[in-house]
Amino acid sequence: MTPIRRMGKGYAPWLLFINEVLLLLHFSACKVPAIIVFGDSSVDSGNNNFIPTMARSNFQPYGRDFFNGNPTGRFSNGRIPPDFVSEAFGIKQAVPAYLDPAFSISDFATGVCFASAGTGYDNATSNVADVIPLWKEVEYYKEYQKKLRAHLGEEKANQILSDALYLVSIGTNDFLENYYALTERRSEFPTVQQYEDFLLGLAKNFFTEIYGLGARKVSLTGLPPMGCLPLERAMNILEFHNCVEEYNNLALEFNGKLGWLVSKLNKDLPGFQMVDANVYDIFLQIVTDPSGFGFEEAKTGCCGTGRFEMGFLCDPKFTCQDANKYVFWDAFHPSEKTSQIMSNYLIEKHLAKFL
Ligand SMILES: *[C@@H]1O[C@H](CO)[C@@H](O)[C@H](O)[C@H]1NC(C)=O
Repeated sequence: MTPIRRMGKGYAPWLLFINEVLLLLHFSACKVPAIIVFGDSSVDSGNNNFIPTMARSNFQPYGRDFFNGNPTGRFSNGRIPPDFVSEAFGIKQAVPAYLDPAFSISDFATGVCFASAGTGYDNATSNVADVIPLWKEVEYYKEYQKKLRAHLGEEKANQILSDALYLVSIGTNDFLENYYALTERRSEFPTVQQYEDFLLGLAKNFFTEIYGLGARKVSLTGLPPMGCLPLERAMNILEFHNCVEEYNNLALEFNGKLGWLVSKLNKDLPGFQMVDANVYDIFLQIVTDPSGFGFEEAKTGCCGTGRFEMGFLCDPKFTCQDANKYVFWDAFHPSEKTSQIMSNYLIEKHLAKFL
């Protein structure tokens, strides 16, 4: 017997053990094989570039801190939360938009975004800027399922669809672009609580539908402290451009109802693992103590005057030097650095159990 064979024999159980550990590691690394995104501009990676709407951002100065300085249609100077989540799960550094013809089903197999800037739970909200309504995002998701099954076979595709992490971030536009900006819903639902309950019903239908289609791990991000968005502050003249308390309280109230919906769905739908991935508190902390997070400015955005501009109104010639000093990139959307901080918080506090 050669020493090597003796050694091999002696170590065989250990080798087996190591193999098992590697196998386990492999499986745990693949626990979430894909990130699938629904929602509005907080998570849209560029679907609006491919539909006729003004609600877009695929031009400078957007994306100037993205890979290669590409303006992708993300409402940010760089990446947005789904990109950071995808990276943290060891998948890829950016989640592509479903409507972008530069990507194919083999790209989408590890992550895809159906979100559309300007949309909401309510059909009437997506009509405001002619963007993709939530029901249409679900139609695209169904089409994606078909393509994925054709690409990978029924079994593998179904596995991915049920193991994927679904990120949903939506709702701000229903209140700010629709309920408070237009009269139709306000006359239909005289109190905002009535409108909240209407939206809650739509949310329940949406989550029940994607559950029926195979989604199991779902993260729902509700409303940010909407009253502290630079645009809302800019219009709060009587209160010296402070945060609009009414909108913040509304966000807290609606988020509370969403939290209740999440517990109910987890109880009612077998195998459903939905998390209430609320970012209100961390967002408000950043806005009230910007220097504690390394920022210099929290009241105005980096682009233009920082008070009103977003989309086409953002002019590369009138944009701050260093977006990392700003909590907000434009008058409505967080900077990449804020998105990164919030994503890290989300991952540690709410999504780690899926890692
Ligand atoms: C939204 O519009 C779609 C398509 O027209 C329709 O199927 C759906 O019922 C509408 N939802 C509500 C709540 O009205």
